[in-house]
Amino acid sequence: MKAETPPDATGRTLLGALESKDPARRPLAEYREFVRDHYDGLPGALTAITGVLTGHEALAGKLISPSGFDVCGCKSILDAGCGNGRYTHFLLREADSNARITGFDYSQQMLRRARTRLNDLRATHVAADLARLPYADASFDAAVCGWVLEHLPDPRPGLRELARVLKPAGKLLLMATEDTLTGALCSRLWHCRTYNRENLKTACQSCGLEWRRDLWFSKIHSKLRLGGIISEFRRV
Ligand SMILES: C[S@@+](CC[C@H](N)C(=O)[O-])C[C@H]1O[C@@H](n2cnc3c(N)ncnc32)[C@H](O)[C@@H]1O
Repeated sequence: MKAETPPDATGRTLLGALESKDPARRPLAEYREFVRDHYDGLPGALTAITGVLTGHEALAGKLISPSGFDVCGCKSILDAGCGNGRYTHFLLREADSNARITGFDYSQQMLRRARTRLNDLRATHVAADLARLPYADASFDAAVCGWVLEHLPDPRPGLRELARVLKPAGKLLLMATEDTLTGALCSRLWHCRTYNRENLKTACQSCGLEWRRDLWFSKIHSKLRLGGIISEFRRV
């Protein structure tokens, strides 16, 4: 097996050709509506099944744990772009019994799916846009943002909002589609962009989020550099 090494100039051109053009091609307002409709519809409904088949459900269970993204002691936790509630589910399992989990998504149907799945008084779900969050500064001890940022043509408005609503030294688990072959194929399916790992870290740093470490699903994923960007950050 061959590792997915960072692409050289030719590789970048090929991946660029393969990657979805929707985020760059459509005007921002039209693209946002297009993505929301996509998740409101059948593809969003199927995430409950595809997440199990692709290992995303197992990944979430592994990441949200004391040896992964540890939320012990965090009293207010944000699940940004919560989708069907996958990460909220594991946050509820691992967080302190008096912790509050706040999930948001801009797809009403994904929010409905999350509420149906979770049905837990410690979790609340509201409609909001990652680039314009309805929360006060320094509201959360921790945040999870899983596979959402690739739906922003420019990540910085979303990253600034995540940094703003986190308390100083608050922690962020960020997952995003990477500029690899599998990432480019995923971007086609979900009409999103991909990120270069180092460029994304630089963007995070410029928005007040300091990189701490990369996480991987398994040793094989780490060796082959598969599975996308999964990184932990601290609000500086
Ligand atoms: C791939 S799903 C990931 C869901 C969940 N975080 C998970 O990992 O299972 C992406 C979600 O982000 C939401 N989303 C995309 N762009 C968003 C934005 N700007 N603001 C809020 N939610 C957004 C979509 O509606 C969708 O539910």
